[in-house]
Amino acid sequence: MRIRRTLSPAAAALCPADLWKGFEGFFAGERYLKKVEEELREYLGVRYAWFTSSGKAALYIILRALRSLKADRSEVLIPAYTCFSVPSAIVRAGLEVALCDIDAASLDFDSVLLPKSITEKTLCVVPSHLFGIPSAVESIMDICRDRGVFVLEDAAQAMGARRGAKMLGTIGDAGFYSLGRGKPVTCGSGGIIVTNSDAIARAVDRELSPLPLPGKARQAREYIKVAVMSLFIRPRLYSLPAALPFLHLGRTVFDTRFPVMRFSSMQAGLCMTWRRRLEAAMSVRRRQAEMFRLAIDAVRIPGNTSSATYLRLPYMTESRECRLRIFSSAKKKGLGITGMYPSPINEIPRIAHRFAGSAFPAARLVADRLITLPLHQYVRDGDRDEIARLLAPARPGETLSQIRRAERTMPGIAGREGA
Ligand SMILES: Cc1ncc(COP(=O)(O)O)c(C=O)c1O
Repeated sequence: MRIRRTLSPAAAALCPADLWKGFEGFFAGERYLKKVEEELREYLGVRYAWFTSSGKAALYIILRALRSLKADRSEVLIPAYTCFSVPSAIVRAGLEVALCDIDAASLDFDSVLLPKSITEKTLCVVPSHLFGIPSAVESIMDICRDRGVFVLEDAAQAMGARRGAKMLGTIGDAGFYSLGRGKPVTCGSGGIIVTNSDAIARAVDRELSPLPLPGKARQAREYIKVAVMSLFIRPRLYSLPAALPFLHLGRTVFDTRFPVMRFSSMQAGLCMTWRRRLEAAMSVRRRQAEMFRLAIDAVRIPGNTSSATYLRLPYMTESRECRLRIFSSAKKKGLGITGMYPSPINEIPRIAHRFAGSAFPAARLVADRLITLPLHQYVRDGDRDEIARLLAPARPGETLSQIRRAERTMPGIAGREGA
């Protein structure tokens, strides 16, 4: 195996001081958890916030809570292109997955199809702020309100991003975030539930209180994983874990057997500096996205607005073949370009039978053509140049000089590893 500089697709940094806080967390009891919950409520401007073992556990808990409020409704309407964890949590909650196709330009629901996809069995609609691109939650709320349908925001990838004055995840009836690897803030794994509704909060509390806390052995294993990840996420070492297929890095799977637990005090310790980390990472990602916008064909970036806070930069290639060509060159050069979800949700083998005869062409197109570009602090000037060249081989000279000019007016963008 050759060790060579390789970028990870996403990287939320944890420094030794963060790891030390996690270690302290083992002995902190409820203290750290209470502190981060309170800080988070204040930051997001919500009345209720709870931490859980993962984003999918958070989704599962909210779905069960919503079902307890509307027992006669069993369908959950989601975008046909989203993370496989979403249908996994729905099936685990004993509910049915319903799909609506997306708009390939925004990755949000297709606004014409959405009202037609809601039925009298719909319990909730789950708009997803994929990559941090804001979904049009307010108009979805308008459609759902009259029909007694909840809106549950999937803000797994969008913590800290806003739509106007409001934080994504806090606009609908309830929302959730992920603290998993590669998310805006990570502690290895974790999730957050938020709501402003008293009735939903009571129902969530009923679901959460009987859940077990992870045992000390599980916490110790998680801690070691996080510590190792924080080291190997660096470009100088990332080629090692990236070459180990059993780690399944970056793979999205449909699996209903995930743990549903409360958040441990160790995880709360790892989150003690969440706000500083989130804001620092968002500012780097915004600048990186800005630089990419100048260097590549910006009309190919879904949801492209300068106000978007992307987690990774999505980019629609011209064709499936073009996408494969880019992957293969990027892999050789260690540029951190990856795909996102391998297929639309209706093609997941374990649930495909439910959607026989239905087509979701925009979701299919996005699955075929979408790639993501890394935006984290380890991406250097030269990496962006290489990526831009790979995406737009016909006019590299022009775009690169544009980048250089813009960079001079944008101090602070990472030119060094780890900056
Ligand atoms: C859009 C989306 N929803 C839900 C999840 C589930 O979060 P977690 O991995 O923390 O379970 C993810 C995580 O990858 C996600 O990207």
